[in-house]
Amino acid sequence: MNNTTSEITLRADGITKTYPSGSGTIRVLNQINLELSHGDFVTISGPSGCGKSTLLMVLGALQEPDDGILEYNGVSPYNLSAKDRAQFRSTNIGFVFQDFNLVPYLTVRENILCPGIVNISKDWETRCAELIESLGLSDRASHYPDQLSSGEKQRTALARALLVEPAIIFADEPTGNLDQDNGKRVLDHLTSYADSGATVMMATHDRDAFDTGNKHLQMDNGSILKLISE
Ligand SMILES: Nc1ncnc2c1ncn2[C@@H]1O[C@H](COP(=O)(O)OP(=O)(O)OP(=O)(O)O)[C@@H](O)[C@H]1O
Ligand SMILES: [Mg+2]
Repeated sequence: MNNTTSEITLRADGITKTYPSGSGTIRVLNQINLELSHGDFVTISGPSGCGKSTLLMVLGALQEPDDGILEYNGVSPYNLSAKDRAQFRSTNIGFVFQDFNLVPYLTVRENILCPGIVNISKDWETRCAELIESLGLSDRASHYPDQLSSGEKQRTALARALLVEPAIIFADEPTGNLDQDNGKRVLDHLTSYADSGATVMMATHDRDAFDTGNKHLQMDNGSILKLISE
Protein backbone atom coordinates (compact mmCIF):
# COMPACT_ATOMS: atom_id res chain seq x y z
CA MET A 1 0.00 0.00 0.00
CA ASN A 2 1.01 3.52 -0.77
CA ASN A 3 1.90 5.15 2.59
CA THR A 4 0.61 8.61 1.71
CA THR A 5 -2.87 7.39 0.91
CA SER A 6 -3.54 4.41 3.17
CA GLU A 7 -5.65 6.43 5.64
CA ILE A 8 -8.18 7.53 3.07
CA THR A 9 -11.82 6.89 3.85
CA LEU A 10 -14.76 7.79 1.69
CA ARG A 11 -17.93 9.59 2.71
CA ALA A 12 -20.85 10.12 0.36
CA ASP A 13 -23.82 12.14 1.53
CA GLY A 14 -27.02 12.71 -0.44
CA ILE A 15 -25.50 11.82 -3.82
CA THR A 16 -27.98 12.36 -6.64
CA LYS A 17 -27.34 11.94 -10.36
CA THR A 18 -29.64 12.47 -13.32
CA TYR A 19 -29.08 11.87 -17.02
CA PRO A 20 -30.90 13.48 -19.93
CA SER A 21 -33.61 11.22 -21.31
CA GLY A 22 -35.73 12.25 -24.29
CA SER A 23 -37.14 15.68 -23.51
CA GLY A 24 -36.63 15.23 -19.74
CA THR A 25 -34.22 13.56 -17.34
CA ILE A 26 -34.00 10.26 -15.48
CA ARG A 27 -32.76 10.08 -11.92
CA VAL A 28 -30.15 7.33 -11.81
CA LEU A 29 -28.86 7.86 -8.26
CA ASN A 30 -31.20 8.95 -5.55
CA GLN A 31 -29.85 10.25 -2.23
CA ILE A 32 -26.97 7.80 -1.79
CA ASN A 33 -25.34 7.89 1.66
CA LEU A 34 -22.29 5.74 2.36
CA GLU A 35 -19.18 5.61 4.49
CA LEU A 36 -16.21 3.40 3.72
CA SER A 37 -13.10 2.77 5.78
CA HIS A 38 -9.80 1.32 4.72
CA GLY A 39 -9.97 -2.47 4.75
CA ASP A 40 -13.61 -2.47 3.61
CA PHE A 41 -14.47 -4.73 0.68
CA VAL A 42 -17.95 -3.68 -0.45
CA THR A 43 -19.93 -5.61 -3.04
CA ILE A 44 -22.90 -4.13 -4.93
CA SER A 45 -25.68 -6.02 -6.66
CA GLY A 46 -28.93 -4.99 -8.32
CA PRO A 47 -30.82 -5.34 -11.57
CA SER A 48 -29.29 -4.14 -14.83
CA GLY A 49 -29.79 -0.38 -15.14
CA CYS A 50 -30.26 0.24 -11.40
CA GLY A 51 -27.22 2.57 -11.27
CA LYS A 52 -24.28 0.39 -10.12
CA SER A 53 -21.79 1.62 -12.75
CA THR A 54 -22.95 5.21 -12.33
CA LEU A 55 -22.45 4.96 -8.57
CA LEU A 56 -18.91 3.62 -9.01
CA MET A 57 -18.06 6.40 -11.47
CA VAL A 58 -19.49 9.14 -9.24
CA LEU A 59 -17.65 7.77 -6.17
CA GLY A 60 -14.52 7.27 -8.28
CA ALA A 61 -14.38 11.01 -9.10
CA LEU A 62 -15.06 10.33 -12.78
CA GLN A 63 -18.63 11.58 -13.06
CA GLU A 64 -19.81 14.63 -11.13
CA PRO A 65 -23.12 14.21 -9.27
CA ASP A 66 -25.90 16.80 -9.54
CA ASP A 67 -26.14 17.04 -5.80
CA GLY A 68 -24.53 15.67 -2.64
CA ILE A 69 -21.13 15.55 -1.00
CA LEU A 70 -18.23 13.22 -1.79
CA GLU A 71 -15.20 13.35 0.47
CA TYR A 72 -12.01 11.37 0.75
CA ASN A 73 -10.65 12.15 4.21
CA GLY A 74 -11.99 15.68 3.94
CA VAL A 75 -10.94 16.22 0.30
CA SER A 76 -13.84 16.82 -2.10
CA PRO A 77 -12.55 15.73 -5.53
CA TYR A 78 -15.29 17.61 -7.38
CA ASN A 79 -14.16 20.87 -5.77
CA LEU A 80 -10.69 20.42 -7.28
CA SER A 81 -9.72 21.77 -10.70
CA ALA A 82 -9.90 19.18 -13.50
CA LYS A 83 -6.09 18.91 -13.46
CA ASP A 84 -5.89 18.45 -9.68
CA ARG A 85 -8.77 15.97 -9.76
CA ALA A 86 -6.96 13.92 -12.41
CA GLN A 87 -3.83 13.96 -10.24
CA PHE A 88 -5.92 12.98 -7.18
CA ARG A 89 -7.47 10.07 -9.10
CA SER A 90 -4.16 8.83 -10.46
CA THR A 91 -2.66 8.71 -6.96
CA ASN A 92 -5.60 7.45 -4.93
CA ILE A 93 -8.07 5.62 -7.13
CA GLY A 94 -7.90 2.50 -9.29
CA PHE A 95 -10.78 1.79 -11.65
CA VAL A 96 -11.64 -1.45 -13.46
CA PHE A 97 -14.21 -0.46 -16.08
CA GLN A 98 -17.07 -2.73 -17.07
CA ASP A 99 -15.90 -2.47 -20.70
CA PHE A 100 -12.15 -2.48 -19.77
CA ASN A 101 -11.10 0.74 -21.60
CA LEU A 102 -7.72 -0.66 -22.59
CA VAL A 103 -5.60 1.42 -24.99
CA PRO A 104 -5.78 -0.51 -28.30
CA TYR A 105 -2.29 0.36 -29.57
CA LEU A 106 -0.49 -0.62 -26.34
CA THR A 107 0.42 -4.16 -25.32
CA VAL A 108 -0.83 -5.81 -22.13
CA ARG A 109 2.41 -4.84 -20.37
CA GLU A 110 2.26 -1.24 -21.61
CA ASN A 111 -1.41 -0.90 -20.66
CA ILE A 112 -0.63 -2.09 -17.13
CA LEU A 113 2.28 0.36 -16.86
CA CYS A 114 0.18 3.36 -18.00
CA PRO A 115 -0.70 4.76 -14.53
CA GLY A 116 3.01 4.66 -13.63
CA ILE A 117 3.65 7.41 -16.19
CA VAL A 118 1.93 9.87 -13.83
CA ASN A 119 3.57 8.42 -10.71
CA ILE A 120 7.11 7.96 -11.92
CA SER A 121 8.78 7.81 -8.52
CA LYS A 122 8.89 4.00 -8.31
CA ASP A 123 10.22 1.11 -10.31
CA TRP A 124 6.89 0.00 -11.71
CA GLU A 125 8.47 -2.61 -13.97
CA THR A 126 8.92 -5.01 -11.05
CA ARG A 127 5.37 -4.54 -9.78
CA CYS A 128 4.05 -4.88 -13.34
CA ALA A 129 5.92 -8.18 -13.76
CA GLU A 130 4.48 -9.48 -10.46
CA LEU A 131 0.95 -8.56 -11.50
CA ILE A 132 1.36 -10.17 -14.92
CA GLU A 133 2.57 -13.36 -13.26
CA SER A 134 -0.03 -13.49 -10.50
CA LEU A 135 -2.95 -12.72 -12.82
CA GLY A 136 -1.89 -15.44 -15.27
CA LEU A 137 -0.99 -13.09 -18.13
CA SER A 138 2.66 -14.13 -18.64
CA ASP A 139 2.17 -15.58 -22.12
CA ARG A 140 0.03 -12.60 -23.19
CA ALA A 141 2.22 -9.71 -21.98
CA SER A 142 3.26 -8.63 -25.50
CA HIS A 143 -0.18 -9.02 -27.07
CA TYR A 144 -2.47 -6.15 -28.02
CA PRO A 145 -6.04 -5.90 -26.68
CA ASP A 146 -7.64 -7.10 -29.93
CA GLN A 147 -5.60 -10.31 -29.60
CA LEU A 148 -7.00 -11.06 -26.13
CA SER A 149 -10.04 -12.90 -24.83
CA SER A 150 -12.50 -10.86 -22.76
CA GLY A 151 -11.20 -12.50 -19.60
CA GLU A 152 -7.60 -11.59 -20.46
CA LYS A 153 -8.65 -8.00 -21.12
CA GLN A 154 -10.45 -7.96 -17.79
CA ARG A 155 -7.38 -9.22 -15.90
CA THR A 156 -5.20 -6.66 -17.72
CA ALA A 157 -7.61 -3.92 -16.62
CA LEU A 158 -7.38 -5.18 -13.02
CA ALA A 159 -3.57 -5.24 -13.12
CA ARG A 160 -3.57 -1.67 -14.46
CA ALA A 161 -5.85 -0.55 -11.61
CA LEU A 162 -3.59 -2.23 -9.03
CA LEU A 163 -0.24 -0.96 -10.39
CA VAL A 164 0.20 2.17 -8.27
CA GLU A 165 -1.34 0.56 -5.17
CA PRO A 166 -4.21 3.06 -4.86
CA ALA A 167 -6.02 3.47 -1.55
CA ILE A 168 -9.33 2.55 -3.18
CA ILE A 169 -10.24 0.31 -6.09
CA PHE A 170 -13.57 0.45 -7.92
CA ALA A 171 -14.18 -2.72 -9.91
CA ASP A 172 -17.18 -2.92 -12.23
CA GLU A 173 -18.11 -6.57 -12.75
CA PRO A 174 -14.45 -7.69 -12.76
CA THR A 175 -15.41 -11.38 -12.90
CA GLY A 176 -18.13 -10.97 -15.54
CA ASN A 177 -16.14 -12.63 -18.34
CA LEU A 178 -14.09 -15.11 -16.36
CA ASP A 179 -14.24 -18.87 -15.88
CA GLN A 180 -14.44 -20.18 -12.31
CA ASP A 181 -10.67 -20.44 -11.74
CA ASN A 182 -9.86 -16.98 -13.09
CA GLY A 183 -12.87 -15.49 -11.30
CA LYS A 184 -11.55 -16.91 -8.04
CA ARG A 185 -8.09 -15.58 -8.81
CA VAL A 186 -9.50 -12.05 -9.28
CA LEU A 187 -11.62 -12.23 -6.12
CA ASP A 188 -8.64 -13.53 -4.11
CA HIS A 189 -6.56 -10.64 -5.42
CA LEU A 190 -9.18 -8.07 -4.43
CA THR A 191 -9.68 -9.71 -1.02
CA SER A 192 -5.98 -9.67 -0.18
CA TYR A 193 -5.75 -6.09 -1.47
CA ALA A 194 -8.52 -5.03 0.96
CA ASP A 195 -6.84 -7.07 3.73
CA SER A 196 -3.67 -5.05 3.14
CA GLY A 197 -5.60 -1.92 4.21
CA ALA A 198 -7.09 -0.62 0.95
CA THR A 199 -10.77 -0.15 0.22
CA VAL A 200 -12.42 -2.18 -2.54
CA MET A 201 -15.84 -1.56 -4.05
CA MET A 202 -17.11 -4.04 -6.62
CA ALA A 203 -20.31 -4.24 -8.67
CA THR A 204 -21.33 -7.75 -9.65
CA HIS A 205 -24.19 -9.91 -10.93
CA ASP A 206 -22.40 -13.03 -9.67
CA ARG A 207 -23.83 -14.48 -6.45
CA ASP A 208 -20.50 -15.92 -5.23
CA ALA A 209 -18.70 -12.65 -5.95
CA PHE A 210 -21.44 -10.72 -4.12
CA ASP A 211 -20.84 -12.85 -1.01
CA THR A 212 -17.13 -11.88 -1.01
CA GLY A 213 -16.07 -8.99 1.21
CA ASN A 214 -17.40 -7.57 4.47
CA LYS A 215 -20.18 -5.22 3.28
CA HIS A 216 -22.91 -6.02 0.78
CA LEU A 217 -25.04 -3.38 -0.78
CA GLN A 218 -28.25 -4.10 -2.68
CA MET A 219 -29.40 -1.40 -5.08
CA ASP A 220 -32.61 -0.88 -6.98
CA ASN A 221 -33.76 2.05 -9.05
CA GLY A 222 -30.91 4.34 -7.99
CA SER A 223 -31.28 3.74 -4.25
CA ILE A 224 -29.58 1.55 -1.68
CA LEU A 225 -32.22 -0.98 -0.59
CA LYS A 226 -30.09 -2.77 1.95
CA LEU A 227 -26.56 -2.59 3.35
CA ILE A 228 -25.42 -5.73 5.15
CA SER A 229 -22.23 -5.41 7.23
CA GLU A 230 -20.47 -8.50 8.56
N1 LIG B 1 -24.40 8.70 -20.22
C1 LIG B 1 -25.68 8.34 -20.02
N2 LIG B 1 -26.71 9.07 -20.53
C2 LIG B 1 -28.00 8.74 -20.33
N3 LIG B 1 -28.38 7.67 -19.59
C3 LIG B 1 -27.40 6.90 -19.06
C4 LIG B 1 -26.01 7.18 -19.24
N4 LIG B 1 -25.27 6.24 -18.59
C5 LIG B 1 -26.17 5.41 -18.03
N5 LIG B 1 -27.45 5.78 -18.30
C6 LIG B 1 -28.68 5.15 -17.82
O1 LIG B 1 -28.61 5.16 -16.40
C7 LIG B 1 -29.16 3.96 -15.87
C8 LIG B 1 -28.15 3.30 -14.95
O2 LIG B 1 -27.04 2.82 -15.73
P1 LIG B 1 -25.83 2.03 -15.09
O3 LIG B 1 -24.88 1.77 -16.19
O4 LIG B 1 -25.36 2.76 -13.91
O5 LIG B 1 -26.57 0.69 -14.61
P2 LIG B 1 -25.95 -0.67 -14.03
O6 LIG B 1 -26.68 -0.97 -12.76
O7 LIG B 1 -24.49 -0.56 -13.97
O8 LIG B 1 -26.40 -1.73 -15.13
P3 LIG B 1 -25.64 -3.10 -15.62
O9 LIG B 1 -25.88 -4.13 -14.54
O10 LIG B 1 -26.37 -3.44 -16.89
O11 LIG B 1 -24.20 -2.79 -15.83
C9 LIG B 1 -29.59 3.12 -17.06
O12 LIG B 1 -30.97 3.30 -17.26
C10 LIG B 1 -28.78 3.69 -18.20
O13 LIG B 1 -29.46 3.55 -19.42
MG1 LIG C 1 -22.95 -1.53 -14.99
